[in-house]
Amino acid sequence: MADVKVDLAGRSYQVRVDRGLIADFANQCGDLLRKKRVPIVTDANVRAAWGDALEASLLAAGKEPRWLVHEAGESAKSWDGLSRTVEWLLAEEVERGDHIVALGGGVIGDLTGFAASMLKRGCSFIQVPTTLLAQVDSSVGGKTAINVAAGKNLVGAFHQPSLVLADTNALSTLSPREMRCGFAEVIKYGILGDREFFEWCESNVAGILSHLPRTLEYAVTTSVQAKARIVAQDERETSGARALLNLGHTFGHALEAETGYSDRLLHGEAVAIGMALAARYSVRRGLMDQREAERIATAIGISDLRTDIWRLEGTCTGEQLVAHMLHDKKMDAGTLPFILLRGIGEAFVDNEVDLADVAEFLNEELTAD
Ligand code: GLY
Repeated sequence: MADVKVDLAGRSYQVRVDRGLIADFANQCGDLLRKKRVPIVTDANVRAAWGDALEASLLAAGKEPRWLVHEAGESAKSWDGLSRTVEWLLAEEVERGDHIVALGGGVIGDLTGFAASMLKRGCSFIQVPTTLLAQVDSSVGGKTAINVAAGKNLVGAFHQPSLVLADTNALSTLSPREMRCGFAEVIKYGILGDREFFEWCESNVAGILSHLPRTLEYAVTTSVQAKARIVAQDERETSGARALLNLGHTFGHALEAETGYSDRLLHGEAVAIGMALAARYSVRRGLMDQREAERIATAIGISDLRTDIWRLEGTCTGEQLVAHMLHDKKMDAGTLPFILLRGIGEAFVDNEVDLADVAEFLNEELTAD
C-alpha cells in the first residue's frame, strides 16, 4: 500500500495505491461521505465489473449508492454527456460540500471532474480510476475536460479531486491492449525524468502486463509519485514543468487526429509512437545519441506497442500531420512547444521547433521501414 500526497496547499490530497480499495470504499472515504446518499458516475462496463463491490461497501456502511451509468466509450465525454451528468447531479440534490464519485477510466474521470467543477460553481469529487492509464495519469492532477467538434479536451477546467483511490485489483479486467496503453504512460515517466525507473520498466514490462501484483503496485506508485511532484511544481502548466508530461503527445495527437480518434489507434498507442518519434527527432536535431533513441524504441516495443508510422505511408503526409498539430490546445502565440530529449530521463521543452523541419522528418518516417 502506498499513499502519495499531491501537495497543493489548500487543495492537497492523497492518492492511495493498493489492492482491494473498491471493496473497502466506504472506509477509505471516511468522513468525505457526509450524507446517506452517494452519487456515483460510471459506465456500463465498469458498473458490471466493479459496481457491486463498491455498492456492497456503501450499503454495509449504511449509505445509499445512487448511480449514473453512461455508455462505455469516448462518446460520454461530450456536451450531451456533460449535460446529462450535471442535470442528474442536480436532480440528486448534490450540494457543494458533497463528494461525487467518478468510478471508471479517463473518460469517466474527465467528464465527472468537469461536471463537479461547474456544479454549483464547484463541488468536490473522488476519483476511483479503473484503468492503468487513468491510475498513472488522468486521475491525478486535476485536468478535466470534454471533447467538442473542434477537438479533444478543448473545453475543461483544472479541478482537483479530494481523494484518488487507485485499486490495482481493478486492472484485472483490462484487456492486454488497455494494459499496453497504460504501460506507455508508465514508461513515459522514466523517459522524461527518471532513468532508473526507465531501466526498471525495461526489466519489468512482462510483469506489469501480466498483472504481477507487486510489480504493478510499484509501477503505479512510482508513476503517481512522479506526476504528483510535477503537478505540485506547476499545477496549471504555466512554468514548463507540467508540460514535460506531454512527452510524445504532440506527435501522438496528430496521429490520433489522422486516424479519426478511433479504435485504429488508441491514445496510449499514439503516445508510444509519439515518444519514439520525439526521441528520433531529438537525434535528428543533434540533441541525443542515436543509441538512446533506439533503446527507448526497444523498451516500448517489448510491450508490443508500435514505435513507427510507416504503415500510414500513402494515407497522409508529414505536412498533414503537422497541420493537425496546429490545432493542438498547447499552441501559444503561433508556437507549439515540443518535448524533446537530451537523453533518457532528460526531457525539456523546446519552443522553437521549425514545423517545416518536423514535416520533413515525418515524411522520412512515413517512408522508412
Ligand atoms: N496528462 C498530462 C497532465 O496531466 O498534465
